[in-house]
Amino acid sequence: MESSIIFIVSSTLLLLCSSSAYAKTASPPLLSPTPAPAPAPAYVNLTDLLSVAGPFHTFLSYLKSTKVIDTFQNQANNTEEGITIFVPKDSAFSSLKKPSLTNLTQAQLKSLVLFHGLPHYYTLADFEKLSSSSPITTFAGGEYTLNFTDVSGNVRIGSGWTSTKVSSSVHSTDPVAIYQIDKVLLPEAIFGTDIPPTPAPAPAPDIAPAADSPTSTKSKSSPSTSHDGSSSNRIMTLGTWSHLVLAMTGLLVMFL
Ligand SMILES: *[C@@H]1O[C@H](CO)[C@@H](O)[C@H](O)[C@H]1NC(C)=O
Ligand SMILES: *[C@@H]1O[C@H](CO)[C@@H](O)[C@H](O)[C@H]1NC(C)=O
Ligand SMILES: *[C@@H]1O[C@H](CO)[C@@H](O)[C@H](O)[C@H]1NC(C)=O
Ligand SMILES: *[C@@H]1O[C@H](CO)[C@@H](O)[C@H](O)[C@H]1NC(C)=O
Repeated sequence: MESSIIFIVSSTLLLLCSSSAYAKTASPPLLSPTPAPAPAPAYVNLTDLLSVAGPFHTFLSYLKSTKVIDTFQNQANNTEEGITIFVPKDSAFSSLKKPSLTNLTQAQLKSLVLFHGLPHYYTLADFEKLSSSSPITTFAGGEYTLNFTDVSGNVRIGSGWTSTKVSSSVHSTDPVAIYQIDKVLLPEAIFGTDIPPTPAPAPAPDIAPAADSPTSTKSKSSPSTSHDGSSSNRIMTLGTWSHLVLAMTGLLVMFL
């Protein structure tokens, strides 16, 4: 009688222990997402792409009116080198006050649009390499160059008048890379080198006045979601259960 109860209790405990051990070890396997094999680069219709993304209507209308769209599309279609295009948002054009684009000649406007393209496909990771080989010649050629500078991991694109960085990637599949930027790239070859000092942003009273607005490295602190919350809960429950069983066993043994 007594031995059979002890047997039942101990086997129950054993079962509980093993099941709790199971709960501990049986964490979901880390599913490594197998990257899908890259499909063969299809024909990219730049007009199509830019009319749905953005909004990039202003840049697109300049691309069309200057016929630069054909130059870029041809590069995308027919070259191994590919193309990288920096596309300013509509708001970049509407907020452009000081050097206005309104009285540029058609030839200058064309150069300005060409200035936003590089005759090579670059991934975002390539930009760091570009910073060591700056200045980089754009589609506009000659003096129309862009400087890439690496400011503590953030690559900035500079034209003298403009300093900006890629704010998002619109398309990046060899041979076509399209990146959104927040400012229109203004070439010194058009607007001259007499660049007015950038008005320092009002809030932080910095000692250095005309310094390039420092980008504070935003630490993305996302709330860390614990994955094993439920399983640890289960272990806890099992733990209290086994304690209960242990207490009851003690009582039984005392009474027997
Ligand atoms: C590209 O897309 C535009 C807009 O959808 C369209 O009008 C044009 O015909 C397309 N070009 C080609 C070559 O498919
Ligand atoms: C690019 O390729 C498409 C599809 O083959 C073609 O319709 C279009 O005319 C080409 N455009 C240029 C500028 O080469
Ligand atoms: C055109 O450019 C000249 C010289 O830079 C400037 O003085 C004038 O204000 C500009 N006109 C417009 C309409 O922007
Ligand atoms: C680009 O960098 C070169 C070398 O550091 C410098 O001489 C030139 O002024 C820069 N150009 C622009 C537009 O910032």
